[in-house]
Amino acid sequence: MGWNSWNTFMSGISDTLLRQTADAMVTNGMRDAGYQYINIDDGWAMPNRVNGHLQPDPVKFPNGFKPVTDYLHSKGFKFGIYSDRGTKTCVQQAPGSHGYETTDAEDFAAWGVDYLKYDNCNPASFSIQEGDYRRMRDALAATGRPIVFSICAWKFKKWMPQLGNLWRTTDDISDNWENIMGIIDTNEKLASYAGPGKWNDPDMLVVGCNGTVDVQNGKSFDMPEMADKRGMTDIEYQTHFSMWAVMAAPLIAGNDLRNMPKAVKEILLNKEVIAVDQDVLGRQGVKVWEDGKGLSIYSKELKGTHTRAVVLLNRTQKNERITAEWNDIGIPLGSATVRDLWRHVEIGNFNERYSVYVPPHGVVFLRIVGEAGKLRSN
Ligand code: GLA
Repeated sequence: MGWNSWNTFMSGISDTLLRQTADAMVTNGMRDAGYQYINIDDGWAMPNRVNGHLQPDPVKFPNGFKPVTDYLHSKGFKFGIYSDRGTKTCVQQAPGSHGYETTDAEDFAAWGVDYLKYDNCNPASFSIQEGDYRRMRDALAATGRPIVFSICAWKFKKWMPQLGNLWRTTDDISDNWENIMGIIDTNEKLASYAGPGKWNDPDMLVVGCNGTVDVQNGKSFDMPEMADKRGMTDIEYQTHFSMWAVMAAPLIAGNDLRNMPKAVKEILLNKEVIAVDQDVLGRQGVKVWEDGKGLSIYSKELKGTHTRAVVLLNRTQKNERITAEWNDIGIPLGSATVRDLWRHVEIGNFNERYSVYVPPHGVVFLRIVGEAGKLRSN
């Protein structure tokens, strides 16, 4: 869990922004809720190496990284940086790490880096993708510093779980409903590859981004006038956050944390939903039911006897009733307790199923615990 600058600030990053973000995360409770990593993305390096070393932009980071990483560490955070397996990063201004893996990994370790997002742009050759990622993985390991390795190659490949701690399963996220639903459908099918220490990454959150990033509709940072257009409604942001949690996805916020509306704060700080995401079993939830017309149910096994996190998702434009059958979600037939994780209430005991109306583009997020020992034989 953490934060990354890209979805709001693109390359507009700085020492000051990182410190202000860290301070905000302490004040607003995000640090204590588990958001640990503060990560910069593309746009921190100068166009040229000096004596083979990447150079932090002196305007953005006047004293290099060490003072700011020391500050982040002193506040209990970890620091993430970005590079690329190719000869240039995606924004093209900065060199990639190709051929410099050892030097760059050693510099990252010396700067106090705890996390590396490693992108896939401008490769020296397309056919050497796995080798490029393997070389950086080995170079990081050789530094002796534990550094999370985040593979960002926009599509799952079978070699990724051997090399990375997380791997992007889709193209870049956009702050719009259709894009989020598409990402869910791709990422959900890869559930069997996820587990403790190795995660499918459906990309950084856009909760509260207000449309700053919407690649799909041509909105981008090249069009700053679009930045004040709201991307999704609060209900849709709640759905996005719920689905990332039930899929045990990395929760990397992407909005401006220094300035959050109450509704956005309540979404990112819902500790019951975060607990589902972070559950120690590390299971990724799967789709267990759908009606083919926009209603579906996702179930994630949690630690504890007969315990499931269950999302009832309504993709339609109307209020719709969804019924969770114990049979479908993996709870033994008989009585089970149902808790609503957005309303924070115990709803009660139910036999065999629970039925509820779900708002358009909304979810109902439940924690369901079957009563052990009440198994019915038929
Ligand atoms: C790629 C990645 C994004 C972001 C940008 C930065 O598109 O997928 O997440 O890092 O590059 O240029």
